Amino acid sequence: MKACRPSLRGLALAALALASCAPDAAPPAPAPDELPAHLADTGLYADATLRDVAPDVWPYDPQYPLWTDGATKRRWIHVPAGSAIDATDPEAWVFPAGTRLWKEFALGRRLETRYMEKRADGSWLRASYVWSDDGGDAVLAPAGGVAHLAEVAPGVPYDVPGRADCATCHSRGDGVLGFDALQLSAERDPLAPHANAGVPAGQDLAAFVARGLVRGLPADLLARPPRIPARTPRERAALGYLDTHCGSCHRDDGPLAGLGLTLGAELRDRDGDHPPRALVTTVGRPSRFRPPGAPSCEARIEPGAPELSTLVERMATRDPLRQMPPLGTHLVDVDALHLIETWIREDLEPTP
Ligand code: HEC
Ligand code: HEC
Repeated sequence: MKACRPSLRGLALAALALASCAPDAAPPAPAPDELPAHLADTGLYADATLRDVAPDVWPYDPQYPLWTDGATKRRWIHVPAGSAIDATDPEAWVFPAGTRLWKEFALGRRLETRYMEKRADGSWLRASYVWSDDGGDAVLAPAGGVAHLAEVAPGVPYDVPGRADCATCHSRGDGVLGFDALQLSAERDPLAPHANAGVPAGQDLAAFVARGLVRGLPADLLARPPRIPARTPRERAALGYLDTHCGSCHRDDGPLAGLGLTLGAELRDRDGDHPPRALVTTVGRPSRFRPPGAPSCEARIEPGAPELSTLVERMATRDPLRQMPPLGTHLVDVDALHLIETWIREDLEPTP
């Protein structure tokens, strides 16, 4: 049997860092005054009470939300009047300059609101605003983030990521991860972990097209709202979860392409005539990562045997050197782990 290599984490994270520092890839460093010092000055709220959002700011709710140690989230978008998101390529929306998005994180009280704004040169400003205990103000977080802002469980910290970490995850396509055809589809996945049931009124794809925020969307996607093609309901939810939580890094292009591990969902093959890349690159495929103590290579996904699947083992640990995703959580996502394990055990035919 071919020997598998030890973890590539150091190497690959270095590659990620290099890629984001390369002169042709990196946007110019934001001038300090480009980011307002207070969230109130980003245009999110209608007034100084910081409760009601401005009339030109729209709430939305992705069907496969990112799990962040159980924090509850709210999200909003603003697209400047007279411009629109170009949705001609349903898998690679292009956002106009001046687009702003916000994501608020709460655990009992508001903790932070993450913010991104597209500049005229096509790059994005990204930063977080940290709320005061009384909810009266939210101020720009330091570039390095904030460690231990709160606790997600006794002794387990809630950290605000640094600005360099934002870019590590927000590196797919135009850099927006949760506002796209699949995430806004009216055809919601009832098994999606941590999702709200149904689409709130006025927040689906058709509503954003009707408002003129989204233009050029192929008509077929309105007639038949997109959904992940899959053989079972559990598989659909599993692929959707992997898309949001893993697909921004594990894709066919970008610094990790050499791993040959693609976990994003695809809409091109709407009828599921071809097996998704997230299956082709995992099921029965040897992992480059060898679990500590394992005598030999194991498969990324061993059909019928989650306990022999390295994809499961990487999701089930919070050892910082092995955990997946590598950033953004201190706890294992138990609900998602259960979904993925059950899918592998019950829905995937063991190889004879
Ligand atoms: C922020 C980027 C990032 C995200 C998000 C991410 N990974 Fe990874 N992943 C990496 C890097 C870098 C490596 C290579 C180094 C290593 O093995 O730790 C890797 C390696 C892996 C490997 C071992 C490679 C192999 O050949 O089998 C698996 C399995 C894996 N990731 C699964 C996942 C899963 C499942 C998710 C989502 C739940 C995920 N990853 C999310 C960056 C990421
Ligand atoms: C672990 C990966 C990860 C890190 C680190 C991360 N994000 Fe995100 N972010 C996501 C994903 C995935 C989504 C889409 C799913 C969702 O909204 O739940 C998202 C959504 C957002 C959104 C809503 C717009 C969009 O892209 O969907 C904003 C705004 C945002 N993030 C800002 C930030 C900022 C600012 C930082 C750094 C301080 C940051 N994020 C760090 C993964 C990450």
